[in-house]
Amino acid sequence: MIATKTPLPDLIDQAQTNEPAFLRQIFVRDQMAEWSKQPLVMARADGVFYWDVEGKRYFDAISGIYVVSVGHNNRRVIEAIRHQLDVMTFSPPMHGTNPQAVQLANLLAELAPGDLSTVKFECGGAEVVEAAIKLARQYHKLTGSPGKYKILSRYQSWHGSTLAALSASGLKSRKTVNEPLAPGFLHVFPPTCYRCPFGKTYPDCGITCATIVGDVVEMEDPSTVAAILVEPIGHTSGVTDPPDEYLPILRQICDRHNILLIFDEIITGIGRTGRMFAAETFGVTPDVICIAKGLSGGYAPLSAMICRRPIAEAFWGPIEENPGFVEGHTFEGNPVSCAAGIAVLQEILDRDLLGNARSQGQRLRAGFDALARKYPVIGDVRGKGLFQAIEFVSDRATRARFPDASALGTRVGRRALANGLLCRFDPHWIAFGPPLVVTAEEIDEMVAILDRSLGEVLAELDLTSSALGPTLLPAGGRADAPAGRM
Ligand SMILES: Cc1ncc(COP(=O)(O)O)c(C=O)c1O
Repeated sequence: MIATKTPLPDLIDQAQTNEPAFLRQIFVRDQMAEWSKQPLVMARADGVFYWDVEGKRYFDAISGIYVVSVGHNNRRVIEAIRHQLDVMTFSPPMHGTNPQAVQLANLLAELAPGDLSTVKFECGGAEVVEAAIKLARQYHKLTGSPGKYKILSRYQSWHGSTLAALSASGLKSRKTVNEPLAPGFLHVFPPTCYRCPFGKTYPDCGITCATIVGDVVEMEDPSTVAAILVEPIGHTSGVTDPPDEYLPILRQICDRHNILLIFDEIITGIGRTGRMFAAETFGVTPDVICIAKGLSGGYAPLSAMICRRPIAEAFWGPIEENPGFVEGHTFEGNPVSCAAGIAVLQEILDRDLLGNARSQGQRLRAGFDALARKYPVIGDVRGKGLFQAIEFVSDRATRARFPDASALGTRVGRRALANGLLCRFDPHWIAFGPPLVVTAEEIDEMVAILDRSLGEVLAELDLTSSALGPTLLPAGGRADAPAGRM
């Protein structure tokens, strides 16, 4: 007789989920052999805290990864999802949409600056960056500039793991392994003022990092350039916020050459810089904004692309001439995700979490500045609102970095984890991006753990007097690998 049922395998116990034998069955984002030596498996979360499967508590100074905007275990969002689960969990994406998606689109249109008003929902950051790239190319085809296809973005940037988003990204540690990537993507140097790629010093630099973008467009032939894609504050370049003039100059270049300006606000959007969008913080309205992470606060996969009205209008022609926006995914505009997004936005507005992001951002800056006064290895403090970083240097005067292999940022970040603090760490910098609900006391405690962790690492290593060598790197570790999670 043929068996009709296969018995379900037994699940391992939750406490066993960080045992090496069971971790062999899962890919994680970190270098796996290294990670599995001290695996981090989170079991539950509340407010600004995580607990791992062993019951250890961590301050979440990075909102998971800039996601948990309204804190963990937010009852309003959970109740909104619960309600939606009872009503409808999926609507047919090939045939229409659902009330939650329409409501959220209209809410975003109200909140977005200028005439940014038409929304395409997706599930994650990379998907929505791809949507923006396709929107730019299709828009130019529909409006009589079919030769415009090139996407200009920046070195050291991160726009996501799918192949076009990766092609637009500028991080060699994540790109080279996947090459060859898609054609039609160009890169320029980012506005890393603290380490100007042109060897200049602000404000006497003529903002070369921005004006040279215009030169690149001219050299490439403006009739081939579809869009300029930038994060208002570059994350993987070390939380580099541009000089005030930078984004307005990009706006002028785009206006001059009929190029769409796309802001990847997947981190900076939804309040992180103290305004709903970093576009408002910098006073520059792009043609397209991409948001993701904080939009659903981590309660369901959700991202959105918001474009200006005149761009959306191009997609409304008669069916004989216009196929509409040729882009879509099965789970786009999922009603449960959109219900979460609506509740997150209501929570942010009702509790004035934008105001809280601004005031706690000032407190965080004061805390980082105090650390910089205490530790000469901190060369720079930068960022805006609840998105700030410190950069490590071996010599403040020359801004020399520690050798990559010394990985001070990685060491401090790992020590912070051991001390119960989750932050974003890289060999040369550490970033905080706590939930927008964070309190002053919690900011102080997070900074205090970082202080202790840095002090402990420096005490163990004679970092100020001796040259640092590769021996400081744990065997098998890659110094250039982003050790924190994205
Ligand atoms: C600025 C930025 N853009 C895009 C992405 C890609 O988002 P996702 O990982 O949801 O695809 C990320 C992810 O970290 C990001 O930080």
